[in-house]
Order: sequence, then C-alpha cells, then structure tokens
Amino acid sequence: MAKRIAIAIDGPAGAGKSTMAKWLAERLGYVYVDTGAMYRAVTLYMLEKGVSPAAEAAVCAALPAIRLDLTHTPQGDRIVVNGTDVTAAIRTPEVSAAVSQVSSYACVRALLVERQREWGAAGGIVMDGRDIGTVVLPEAELKIFLTASVRVRALRRLAQWQQEYPDRPQELAAVEEGIRARDRADSERKISPLRQAEDAVLVNTDELTPEETLARLLTLAKKVTTC
Ligand code: DC
Repeated sequence: MAKRIAIAIDGPAGAGKSTMAKWLAERLGYVYVDTGAMYRAVTLYMLEKGVSPAAEAAVCAALPAIRLDLTHTPQGDRIVVNGTDVTAAIRTPEVSAAVSQVSSYACVRALLVERQREWGAAGGIVMDGRDIGTVVLPEAELKIFLTASVRVRALRRLAQWQQEYPDRPQELAAVEEGIRARDRADSERKISPLRQAEDAVLVNTDELTPEETLARLLTLAKKVTTC
C-alpha cells in the first residue's frame, strides 16, 4: 500500500495553492488544511471585536478567547470561530488587507503553528500556506512551491471574486496592488517569511491550466508515495 505522507504547498497569494491542495487531497484521500484560512479567521475576529490589527499587544491579549475549528463536511471544508461559520466572511478585502499584519505577530504564529503541527504529524495530509515546508512541517516528504506572475494571480483572484460577489466590483489594478503589498509583507516579515524551502519543487502555473498543474502534482506525489 502507498505511504500516507505529508505534503507541504507554499507560495504567494493567488498562485492557486488552495485549489490545488484541495484537489490533491481529494484525489489522494488525504485531509486538506488551509492555514491561510486560520490566519484570516483570527484577523476577522480582531476586526469584529474592534481590536486594531496594528496593536500587537491587544491582538495577543485577545487570542485566548478564540476557539478555532476546521470541519470537513459534504458541502466542503468549513472554518468555525467560537461556534460561528466564517468560511465566507474571511475572504473579504478588509480581511485580506489586514491579515499580513496579524499573521506577522509571534503570538499568533506560535498558536496556529502548534495546531498545524499536531494535524501534520499523522500524515495523509496536504497543508498549504507560506511557511509549511520551512517551519511547520520541515520533515514533509513532499514540498511544493507554487507560484505565478503578479498579473496572472490578480486576474485569477478577480475572476474568483466576481463569481462570488458579482455586486461588489473591484478594479484589476487594485487587486494587483493588493497582491504586491501582501507579497512584500509576507516575504519581508521577520518571523517565518514566505520563502521556498531548499528541498521544495518549484512549479510556476502561469502557463498551466489547473488540471495540468494537478497532473504535475499527482506525478510528484506518486513518485514519493511509491518509493
Ligand atoms: O493563503 P491566503 O491568502 O489565504 O493567506 C492569508 C494570509 O495569511 C497571507 O497573506 C499570509 C498569511 N499566512 C501566513 O503567514 N502563513 C501561512 N502558513 C498561511 C498564511
């Protein structure tokens, strides 16, 4: 029987990590953990409680009151904070604009990384984020660094947004600028910055359809699980 391994997928915002990680997990019969959704959920909680994302001490003080659950349902994966399903609410531009700052704090990372490591230890998991291959699961048997140009990522984000929120139009230039700002913040932060692990396989999806990307990832996973 094939080994049930841990697969780490890292990369910048909008590279297609979540879709790929979800599909890969489905095809392999693995659990999928979207770590970005965890940072977003913490950020949403702060915004809703009126805690400024810029106030590190206040963010850290508010953390113990958060109970975060990821559930796998037939309708898809849900993220729940203190009993409220926030799966849709964590995708707004307000949360996207504040999440890099909240996720740069050591107290936030320590809390979430501990949870992620517990889940990762059992294997049979695909986890996506920014620091999975470098910090959360450095022993992962397969590490993928998924990337694409800023323009391609912005176009994909915009298409996804327009489908979900047709009554809230956004400009491409604004989406591009948001992605650039988040790339900068995620790559330049002191703790666990976004970077490719030395043993990660680089996959650029500019010229690939989602199906072609999935096929490439499945080939990589098969190589590892059958050897
Ligand atoms: O993947 P995403 O765009 O939903 O992630 C939201 C933010 O969370 C991203 O800007 C950086 C942060 N993040 C992180 O710092 N570490 C992770 N493992 C995942 C996300």
